[in-house]
Parts: sequence; structure tokens; C-alpha cells
Amino acid sequence: MKFFIDTANLDQIKEANELGILDGVTTNPSLMAKEGVKGEAAVMNHYKTICEMVDGDISAEVISTDFKGIVEEGKKLAAIHPNIVVKVPMIKDGVKAIKWFKDNGIRTNCTLVFSAGQAILAAKAGATYLSPFIGRIDDSNWDGIDLIAQVAHIYSVQGFKTEILAASIRSSIHIVKCAEAGADVCTCPLPSILGLLNHPLTDIGLAKFLEDAKKTQ
Ligand code: E4P
Repeated sequence: MKFFIDTANLDQIKEANELGILDGVTTNPSLMAKEGVKGEAAVMNHYKTICEMVDGDISAEVISTDFKGIVEEGKKLAAIHPNIVVKVPMIKDGVKAIKWFKDNGIRTNCTLVFSAGQAILAAKAGATYLSPFIGRIDDSNWDGIDLIAQVAHIYSVQGFKTEILAASIRSSIHIVKCAEAGADVCTCPLPSILGLLNHPLTDIGLAKFLEDAKKTQ
């Protein structure tokens, strides 16, 4: 399973990248706004900086909702760097645009996915990645991990090539469960990635080894 970081914060991207396990970055308009990135030029520049920091796929989201606008915006985003993946919402014109991007050699990430039916449509259109929003599904009293498992089954049975990119991750255990359920990629906030390191027995064991090591010096 690939690891992406889900943020537009450059310090966090740097920290995750330095761990040596980072395969890419996802952003969305809310994450960009959180970093105070304002205006088209600044947004483009921010994506360029991220592409220069991380050697992997970088999702950049369109804000247009009509076919023509999505295509024009996506072309501009894709021109920033070869690693840019154009993030397109799961709406009618979005599906149409994903097909257009596929036919024109531009990779896509279909976002705001909450059902298996949407996952089938995105795969049929030729999306490179599919982003089911696990945490938001859990928030609505359904099970986000069940959707990952269902889509993984459908894609495997049907031979769809679209990669399942589990998004809206809220905890380290979400990452483990997504891996178990068959996600190809997990995009995670930094604390959820770092949380995977934690186990009290590791801390206790290390403290004991370091204490005993003193006796050997
Ligand atoms: C990333 O691709 C998604 O936009 C993001 O994971 C959404 O996360 P949230 O539900 O925590 O806002």
C-alpha cells in the first residue's frame, strides 16, 4: 500500500518525506485555505513547491464544476509538473471530464466518493485513483472501511485498474484497516502516520535495553 500525506502544510510534508516512506501528497481547497494560500498564482506556486519536495503523485483539485471549466483548469494544473494528478469531484461533468483526461493522457483522482456505484462510474471513466472518504462516512454512522472492502472486491472481480486511495483518514487504526481491506493507497494526516510508530511495549523494551547497555560499557 502506498502512503500519501493529506495536507498542504509544507513543514508536515517535509517531516513525512524525511521518514522515507512517502509516496505522494493529496490536497484539497480546504487544506490550501488552511495554509493561507490565496489567489490562482499562489495556489499554482504552492503545488509546484510540493512537487519539488516530494517525488511522487501530487493531487491538485479543480474548483470548476462544469465540464469545460474542469478540463481547462485540469490542463493548467497538469502543466505544473508531470507528477500532478488532477483531482475531480464525483459529479456528472466530473465523470465526463475524467474520461476526457484519460483520453488525453492526464491522470486523475476522483474525489468525494461515498458509494460503490460512484466507484464503478469513476473506474469506467478511467480515473487513475478513486478517493472514498472513510472518516466522513464513519461520521454519518456508516462504516467507511466496509466501502473500501466492497470497492476492492468489485475492482478485483471486474478487473478495473483504478487505484483505491482511502481518504478522510482520522486515525492510525484507519490506516491498518484500509491496508487490510485492500486499499492501494492511504492518504493520511501526519499524526495518523506517526501514530503507527506507537506501542508501549516498544518504549518499555527500549528503556530496558538502554539501561542494560550501560552495564556493557
Ligand atoms: C483528500 O484527498 C481528501 O480531500 C481529504 O482526505 C478529506 O479529509 P477530511 O474528511 O478530513 O476533510
